[in-house]
Amino acid sequence: MKIIAIVSAKGGVGKTTFSANLSMAMSRTGVPTLAVDLDPQDALRLHFGLSMPCGDGLVEAVLTGMDLRHALLQTEFGCDLMPYGQVEEEDREAFEHLLREQPLLLRQRLEMLNLPEDAVVILDTPPGPSVYLTQALTAANMALIVVLSDAASYATLPSMVGLIQRYCLNRNDFNDYAYLVNQVDHSRQLNSDVAYVMRTQFGKRALGLVHQDQAIPEALACNQFVCDYDKHSRGAADLALICEQVLSRLALSYRTAA
Ligand SMILES: Nc1ncnc2c1ncn2[C@@H]1O[C@H](COP(=O)(O)OP(=O)(O)OP(=O)(O)O)[C@@H](O)[C@H]1O
Ligand SMILES: [Mg+2]
Repeated sequence: MKIIAIVSAKGGVGKTTFSANLSMAMSRTGVPTLAVDLDPQDALRLHFGLSMPCGDGLVEAVLTGMDLRHALLQTEFGCDLMPYGQVEEEDREAFEHLLREQPLLLRQRLEMLNLPEDAVVILDTPPGPSVYLTQALTAANMALIVVLSDAASYATLPSMVGLIQRYCLNRNDFNDYAYLVNQVDHSRQLNSDVAYVMRTQFGKRALGLVHQDQAIPEALACNQFVCDYDKHSRGAADLALICEQVLSRLALSYRTAA
């Protein structure tokens, strides 16, 4: 099992959208994939057509001591989903307290699922430092930093890299982190220039970019995977490339470990 944390210092950059799309794209390639929502917004499920909360969710399963299997939902997109769940304020506080007390809780509970060896778990996180981000980074074998091609996003990067250094880079089971530049719009000169500068600066850690593409939110509104909604869209093409990149980076780490 490989765990990928999707993170960003800044909010609204596209983490949840990307987490859902990457999970769907991965499961299309035959990789057993589980998308886990670690964000109290509980919004990841919306990308899988679940407009109403259903099932127990991650928080309920942890607080009641149930096997996390109870929180798993099969989706029509091939991958499994573990929603955060709709929870009362006191349950959220109790859950966050547990996460603070037990930094390895998520990793251990995911291991207890005994997923296939080649399974990939994708963790969607809330923006910025939080107990959720700490858990995700502590559990992750790879971290993907989602960033917009603007100065504000760029300015937040050192703080995220600092957290990755603290929670990931000292572990042998951590592959590496990489950057995904999202919502790139080549019709806007500054946006296009910043995306170029970022990719140059990120070097080998530049995973790729996803263009600003209306097909992405439209697919969500239609409860469809963007590659089905419009397979000729830029978003679909970008996603396929990124998925390939992620898989090859994970395969690389398997080879190094072997
Ligand atoms: N490549 C893209 N092209 C067009 N729109 C996009 C793209 N990626 C994301 N969006 C849109 O950007 C908005 C924010 O996306 P999303 O909710 O996934 O961000 P987030 O990082 O998860 O936010 P938060 O930090 O609040 O969790 C949504 O309206 C989504 O449809
Ligand atoms: Mg989100």
